[in-house]
Parts: sequence; C-alpha cells; structure tokens
Amino acid sequence: MTGNERPVVHSRRHVANPDAGGMTGIDPRLATADNYRRFAQREAAGRSPAYESLAFAVADDPVVLGYLQSLPSGKRQPNLLFAAARYLLESVPRIGDLRQLILEQQDGLRTVMMDRRTQTNEPARCATLLPALGLLPQPLALIEVGASAGLTLLPDRYAYDYDGVGVAGADHAAPTLHCTLRSPAPLPDHAPEVVWRRGIDLNPLDPADDEDVLWLECLIWPGESGRVDRLHRAVEAARRCPVPVHQGDLLDDLATMVAEAPRDGTVVVYHSAVLAYVDRDKRQQFSQLVRSLDVTWLSNEAPAVLDWVPAAGITEGFALIQDGEHLLAETDPHGAWLRWEAPR
Ligand SMILES: C[S@@+](CC[C@H](N)C(=O)[O-])C[C@H]1O[C@@H](n2cnc3c(N)ncnc32)[C@H](O)[C@@H]1O
Repeated sequence: MTGNERPVVHSRRHVANPDAGGMTGIDPRLATADNYRRFAQREAAGRSPAYESLAFAVADDPVVLGYLQSLPSGKRQPNLLFAAARYLLESVPRIGDLRQLILEQQDGLRTVMMDRRTQTNEPARCATLLPALGLLPQPLALIEVGASAGLTLLPDRYAYDYDGVGVAGADHAAPTLHCTLRSPAPLPDHAPEVVWRRGIDLNPLDPADDEDVLWLECLIWPGESGRVDRLHRAVEAARRCPVPVHQGDLLDDLATMVAEAPRDGTVVVYHSAVLAYVDRDKRQQFSQLVRSLDVTWLSNEAPAVLDWVPAAGITEGFALIQDGEHLLAETDPHGAWLRWEAPR
C-alpha cells in the first residue's frame, strides 16, 4: 500500500470494511474534521462508545486536527491515529491524552503512524469460510491474499461452535470460534484437511513478534474485549503452526505462489477484508488474474468493492463469493454470523 493505505473505494452500498479505517470513515472530498464526525456517527456509534466520543472530540480539537493536517492524507484516518496512541500510551486515550501526546511526543506518534498500517487480522472470519472450504474436494492447499499475520490461514487448527453444533480442529488449545447461523448452512463434520498454506501481504505481521501482536491488539476497538482474548489465543496457535506469509503485492506475486502449490488437492486462493485497500483498476486486474489461474477462488469482501459481480441482497455484511460469480453467503465482517445463500 506504499505510503497511502486509505481505502479508495467509492461505496455503492453502505457496507463498510470495518478494518479499513473504514471505507466510510475517510472521504477525500471532506475536511479531516468532517471525516472524524462521520466516523463517529457511522462507524463507532453502537460499536465503541469510547471511539465515538473520541472521534467527535477530535473533530473539534485544533491541536489534534493541526497535527493530522501535517500527515499525508492517507495517514489521517481515525483507526490509525487511535491505535497508534494506544500503542504508545498503553491505554485508550481521551481527548486530553491525545492532545498531550501530540504536544509532548509528536515525533514518536508520527513514526508509529507512518510505519504502521490498519491491518486487523480477525481469526473468527475462518468460521464464515469453513462451510465453503468443507464443500471442496480435500485436501486443500491454501493461499491467502492480504494475510496480515496469517491468523486466517489456520482454519483447520481452530474449533468451531455454530449455535451449539461443534466442529473440532487440529489444535486443541486453539480458540473456539463462535458463529451464529442466520440460515441453515452446510456445516462440515470435521475441519478441512490442509496440506500446504501460504500468505501474501504488502506488510506481513509476525505472530512471534510481541510488538506486532501489540499492534494487532491496538487495532481492536475498545468495547470488543472478546476479540482481544481470541487474538491472543490465535497468536499462540500460529506460534505452534508457523505459516509463511510472503511480503508482496496481490497482483505481482500470486501467480508464482500458485505455481508452487502442490496439485494433489484443491488449490484455494482466498481473501477477506482486503480489496477495500486496492483501487478499482487494480481490483479488476486482480479479478482477471485469479480467473486465469487454475484455482478455486473464495472472496469475502464488502459488496462495494466487488465490481465484477452483483451481490444483490447483501445489506449488512460481506459477500462470500466463489470463483467470482457464485454467491455463497452473507457474512459478518468479523465472523460473528453467517447467512448461507447458495443451494446446499
Ligand atoms: C484488514 S487486513 C485483513 C487481514 C485478513 N485477511 C483477515 O481477514 O483478517 C487487510 C490486509 O490486506 C493487506 N493488503 C492490502 N493491499 C494489499 C496488496 N495490494 N497486496 C497484498 N496485501 C495487501 C494489508 O497489508 C492487510 O494486512
């Protein structure tokens, strides 16, 4: 994402990628103050009271706004500022803490904001992928595009609970991912058989690196405490099962990685909450590239970024789409629920 990681999507529907900062949180046509007000009203309201009031306060604070104006436009988003402040302060800031940080440690704050990116890795998304993975001929070779720390490359390691129906995973100490079914879904009897896995990310995070894990924790919004515990247990699982995540771009490096995958099973290329970071032309090129490869393609993204397929009926969540055309399910952006849409 080079220096500019602001999602560049012009939303056709109001389903945001909550990890992107968000799609509706930064509009390049708006002043920074208005973007923070919009973030408070559209993204943080109902989800994180602490971030809602902080974003409103930033919108009226000349010190914080002046500092934000000194950053490149793609580095001004609330998710990045708030996570960087938490990373340095080791607590959720109030507006006074933020102002003091800017007055007293501005260089340190700038360094974190310039070096780090919003790249939440939510293992619970595996719960919304599992039925689709279970329907494919086994074993699987998995390639995740935009893998962050690789926590969504471990779908066979986690355990699952779908409204009381369990699916066991290979790592008995890994977290159980709870997912509500909003319609009957084809749940597998057991976790998929994964024989090979790789990730690609512009900026891979290392689950063995405590600073990277702290950054991932800071990206989780206050008020979402269950996610913090899940993150830490998933990180432990990743430390027991290290996954190579290659530093690279989804257009430049995917074909080479696909060529390296074993061919004695199904090669699956998948991604979730990634395409909001990619501009429209590049998304189109990516879609063409994946179609040209001999793989199964699972895309779990906000409908606004799916230029190649109508995702009619997806109003609240992400669209889980196979091979660029078959709508399988509507999924909660953080994996909490699933509405299976395809014939079972
Ligand atoms: C919000 S995170 C999602 C991580 C993971 N897929 C998940 O669902 O938890 C998006 C990730 O996409 C990566 N990304 C964005 N643009 C990319 C590109 N052009 N090539 C590779 N990775 C990219 C970011 O670095 C980030 O780690």
